Amino acid sequence: MKYQQVDELKDLIGEEVELKGWVYNTRSSGKISFLLFRDGSGIVQAVLYHPNHNEEIIKRFDELTQETSLILWGKVREDKRAPSGVELDIIDFKIISPSVDYPISPKEHGVDFLQSNRHLWLRSKKQAAIMRVRSDVVFYSREFFNNRKFLCIDAPIFTPSACEGTTTLFEVNYFDEKKVYLSQSGQLYMEAAALAYGKVYCFGPAFRAEKSKTRRHLTEFWQIEPEVAFFDINDDMELAEDLVIYLVEKILERRQEDLKILERDIKPLENVKKPFYRISYEEAIKILNRKGIDIKFGEDFGAPDEAALSSEFDRPVFVHRYPAEIKAFYMKRDKDRPDLALGFDMLAGEGYGETIGGGQREDDYETLLKRIEEHKLPIDNFKWYLDLRKYGSVPHAGFGLGIERFVQWVTRTQHIREVIPFARTLDRTEP
Ligand code: 4AD
Ligand code: MG
Repeated sequence: MKYQQVDELKDLIGEEVELKGWVYNTRSSGKISFLLFRDGSGIVQAVLYHPNHNEEIIKRFDELTQETSLILWGKVREDKRAPSGVELDIIDFKIISPSVDYPISPKEHGVDFLQSNRHLWLRSKKQAAIMRVRSDVVFYSREFFNNRKFLCIDAPIFTPSACEGTTTLFEVNYFDEKKVYLSQSGQLYMEAAALAYGKVYCFGPAFRAEKSKTRRHLTEFWQIEPEVAFFDINDDMELAEDLVIYLVEKILERRQEDLKILERDIKPLENVKKPFYRISYEEAIKILNRKGIDIKFGEDFGAPDEAALSSEFDRPVFVHRYPAEIKAFYMKRDKDRPDLALGFDMLAGEGYGETIGGGQREDDYETLLKRIEEHKLPIDNFKWYLDLRKYGSVPHAGFGLGIERFVQWVTRTQHIREVIPFARTLDRTEP
């Protein structure tokens, strides 16, 4: 069975085509009826000029309520004004299944209503544009690492212990025998994989019992996490920079139409070039103080601080060497400043905050053992992780890019819940 897709029509001008999809919207004015037809690949306007048709089809057109599914036959006509560059002259159509009282109309709805109808909201034009960008971000992240000969090593989701602090763990009852936790990050396993295979990455879901109700926190999100043996913090930042540039380039190349639908100003994205800014945490504190924000050494940045910082720069900025006190147990410390961790965050531009977190890992056995004890983590669960420092330890580093934070920035979406198909947040686990 052969039928065309809406996104192929611009190459089929003058031809008769068969399309399968749904009614996005209809309207009539005098002798003309318009059908906005969507098939998942895009939306095209189809036109029924009454004088060219019989009564029967004109009457049938009235049955085309929003989201009715149908087969549509038409002739492709060039139309420079149309976003897709083409329109369709309707020849005929056949209804597959009706749609009665579709709850989402083109008028404005409250976000809570839309979230409750997420299974249908996904069909809307802006949501479709976001999902296409997201799909590309995932695909080209993998391609980037593949091109550089990284191995994809999947990390487990059931984990025996915390990677990113014990306060945000989701506990799972594992056959009533013991407790396990949903993974916060694949990093610790990537460290094992990096010492086995050199350059590795994982791509998977991460879970955080974050009690924060912000526009950039999910309880379930996706991360791409590379880890590289013999890398230091500078190599690591450069890799992150290359990845971000690659992804932004691909989106600009492939998703102009979607960015237009989203009314995304692409100038700032075109500016995402080497080198990104690199400032230390201490410099960042100075900048914030100068801007009148009262923050002292030792305090972590909140969302408003990160927004204030990133709005100072015309492209992404790395903030490195945070106080070790406020960072994870596994971070290596700066040998000249043992109170600082060799970790970094990449803050995306335009007021969007942390999108990547990473750094160099503690590779000395005794030091790491001490840190695990200081953080009161259960040593038994970390024996295997300590082994990595016992058998041929090497400097190594890696990072995690939050897929949703990245897509949120690139599409300039207000709330993170719109850039994941089915969001899980503090107050929502449905649909
Ligand atoms: O900074 P985080 O917590 O770092 C790690 O998990 C490291 N183990 C990664 C590594 O080095 N392999 O998380 C990394 C990124 C953040 O920069 C952010 O983009 C995203 O994951 N992220 C979240 N995204 C949505 N909702 C949340 N609650 C998130 N928490 C982190
Ligand atoms: Mg972080």
